[in-house]
Amino acid sequence: MQQYRVAMIPGDGIGTEVLPAARAVLDRVAAHHGFALVYDDLDWSCERYRATGAMMPEDGLDRIRHHDAILLGAVGYPGVPDHVSLWGLLIPIRRAFRQYVNLRPITVLEGVPSPVSRARPGEVDFVVVRENSEGEYSEIGGRINRGFPEETAVQETVFTRVGVERILDYAFDLAARRGGRLTSATKSNGIVHTMPFWDQLVAERAADHPGVTWDQEHIDALAAKIVLDPARFDVIVGSNLFGDILSDLAAAVAGSIGIAPSANLDPTGAHPSMFEPVHGSAPDIAGQGVANPLGAIWSAAMMLDHLGRPEAGAQVMAAVRELLATSGVRTRDLGGDAGTGDFTDELLKLLP
Ligand code: NAI
Ligand code: MG
Repeated sequence: MQQYRVAMIPGDGIGTEVLPAARAVLDRVAAHHGFALVYDDLDWSCERYRATGAMMPEDGLDRIRHHDAILLGAVGYPGVPDHVSLWGLLIPIRRAFRQYVNLRPITVLEGVPSPVSRARPGEVDFVVVRENSEGEYSEIGGRINRGFPEETAVQETVFTRVGVERILDYAFDLAARRGGRLTSATKSNGIVHTMPFWDQLVAERAADHPGVTWDQEHIDALAAKIVLDPARFDVIVGSNLFGDILSDLAAAVAGSIGIAPSANLDPTGAHPSMFEPVHGSAPDIAGQGVANPLGAIWSAAMMLDHLGRPEAGAQVMAAVRELLATSGVRTRDLGGDAGTGDFTDELLKLLP
C-alpha cells in the first residue's frame, strides 16, 4: 500500500482542535482509496517557545525535509510576539522549502451566507495566487538615527526575474486548467520601479500562454471589484503583500475566516509543501471545542490533490458541500451550535 509521510504541526490554540478533525477525515478517505498517511506529530508552537526558547528544534527543518507534505494548524499565543511565531516557524519553512506559491481558493459554498450580497454560491469560485518568497516581505533595509528627529526606516522590495516569472507561470498554468482567465494585481501608477517590471513580465509570460485571457488591475480598484463583483474572477496573481491582503479580503467575501484554506507550494516537488487553514490560533475561543474545522479540512483536501490523490480530495469537498447544503449543522462562527467534534462526526457520516 502506498504511504505518504505527513508532518503534523497543530501549533497553538484552536490549531490543536482543528487538526485532529482534518486527520479523521484524511484517514477515512485514505482507507477508502487504498493508501495510508503516516503522521509525525510535532509540538512546534509558541508554547514550545515559552518552554524552550525556540518554536522548533534546531534541526527541525532537516527532520521534515523528506516528508511528503506538512499540515499545520495555527501558531500564536498571548504574550508571545507574533513575529516570533512567524519568523521562528512559518517563514523558515516557507523559505527553506522554497514554497514560492501561496494558493488560496475562494468559493462561496451553498449554505454559507456571504456578507457580500452579490456573492452567490455557484458563481464565486476563484483562486488567489500569492508570491510567497520575495517582494515586499524582504529583510533588506534598516533603521538609523533611532530616537532622533531624523530617525529613518527603509525597507526594500525585491522582485527578481526568476521569482516573478515562476509565480506568473504557475498562475497562467492554473488559469489554463480552470476558467482561462487571469488578473494581475499591480500598482504601477504609484510604485514606479518594481511594479512596471512586474507588469512587463506579465505581458511577456502571457505570450507563452495564448489560451489564457488576462488583464491587470491596480490593487485599490481590484479590492473594490472583489467586493462589488466577485464572480468575475478566475485566477488573481499578486506579489507577496498584495496577495496577502487580497486573500484575506476574499476569504471574508466567502463568509468566514474559519473555512478558508491555503497551500504553500514548492511546485517543483523538491521540498515538502505545507497546507494550513488561513485562520490563526483564535485565543478567544481556544479550548472550548467550538472552532470551525472546515479551513483545516479543506486544506487537507488540497494536500490530497497535491499528493496526487485528487479523487480523495474531491470526495472530501463533495461531502463538505453536501453537509452545508443539505443540513443545518454549523459551528458557532456560521451561526450554529455544533462543536468541532459534532461537525466532524456529521461530515464523517457522509464519507464512505
Ligand atoms: P484568528 O484567525 O486567530 O482569529 C480571528 C477571529 O476569527 C477570532 O474572533 C476567532 O475566534 C475567529 N476564528 C478564527 N478561526 C476560527 C475558526 N476556525 N472557527 C471559528 N472562529 C474562528 O486571528 P487573530 O485573532 O488575528 O490572531 C490570533 C493569533 O493567531 C495571533 O497570535 C496571530 O499571530 C496568530 N495567527 C496565526 C496564523 C498562522 O498560524 N498562520 C495566521 C493568523 C493569525
Ligand atoms: Mg494574512
